[in-house]
Amino acid sequence: MTMLILGRDGQIGRALSAMQPKALAWGRNDLDLMQAETIYPALEKAAPSVIINAAAYTAVDKAEDESDIAHAINATAVGEMARYAKAAGIPLVHYSTDYVFDGTGESPWQESDATAPLSVYGTTKRAGEEAIVASGCDHLILRTSWVYDAVGKNFFTTMLRLGKEREALNIVADQIGAPSYAPHLAQHTLHLLDIAKTLPEFPSGIYHFSHSGYTSWNGFALAIFEGLRAQGIALAIRKVDAIPTSEYPTPATRPLNSRLDMRKLEQVFELRMPEWQQGLTACLAAHGKQKGAA
Ligand SMILES: NC(=O)c1ccc[n+]([C@@H]2O[C@H](COP(=O)([O-])OP(=O)(O)OC[C@H]3O[C@@H](n4cnc5c(N)ncnc54)[C@H](OP(=O)(O)O)[C@@H]3O)[C@@H](O)[C@H]2O)c1
Repeated sequence: MTMLILGRDGQIGRALSAMQPKALAWGRNDLDLMQAETIYPALEKAAPSVIINAAAYTAVDKAEDESDIAHAINATAVGEMARYAKAAGIPLVHYSTDYVFDGTGESPWQESDATAPLSVYGTTKRAGEEAIVASGCDHLILRTSWVYDAVGKNFFTTMLRLGKEREALNIVADQIGAPSYAPHLAQHTLHLLDIAKTLPEFPSGIYHFSHSGYTSWNGFALAIFEGLRAQGIALAIRKVDAIPTSEYPTPATRPLNSRLDMRKLEQVFELRMPEWQQGLTACLAAHGKQKGAA
């Protein structure tokens, strides 16, 4: 059993690689996904028994100006992985996003709901999903949301910095979704693969796969500050105002309703994702440990 993890240096890829020290874990220097023609031969040479693709073009705003690059990495490259997976008869696990939806309404999105991405990023991620399904390979397409970690550049680490620097912040309160802690997503991905092995057939499909429960970015920020203070971390922040998305314009339009309905995952895998607050608790503990070690 050789597992190949792509995107070794990203949030989910890093966590997967740490949990699977025997796996092949490739970063950009091992395989540049912009070079589509090199993907199939590289996979053929490595001959993995399963591929987990955690690599992606994730710069949501920049993608509005770099649609060709985003498409190459999020769609063309993914199609090549799927083509190999089909030929080799191995499963491909891939991550997608809540940004495939237009974010209307307030109901949690089901896997069968129509997609209508609002951004280039969302459009390219949807094209990647379609390429996998069209290939006919065994696959798990895991649509997640609002991924963060204790390190790197993400909403948690941004709030950590701003909470120390600023006394007041305006944070969007009308985008609703589930913050998802990368190491928990990694752990549950491996668990899904273990469960898949016990099923009579590989449970190919799209699955919604974020933490359970919902909040807004504003609610998430407040919870982060509360958690940091509980750890005894001195913060300057005194005031967190709720603003609508219309007051925080960005190049890419984000969905307002990012709630993902995870009943399909729960039914097929008999697995319930942890509440988003549990993810934050684990992230705060990881942050505390790093600080202790520094
Ligand atoms: N972040 C979120 O909030 C979010 C939300 C929903 C879904 N997702 C999905 O979840 C998955 C993992 O996200 P993440 O946040 O862990 O991503 P991430 O931290 O941005 O990592 C993505 C990785 O992809 C690699 N990559 C980019 N271009 C590449 C190329 N040309 N060749 C090889 N590798 C390349 C990057 O390499 P470098 O390190 O060298 O740049 C990076 O390590 C993605 O499919 C993403 O679309 C993420």
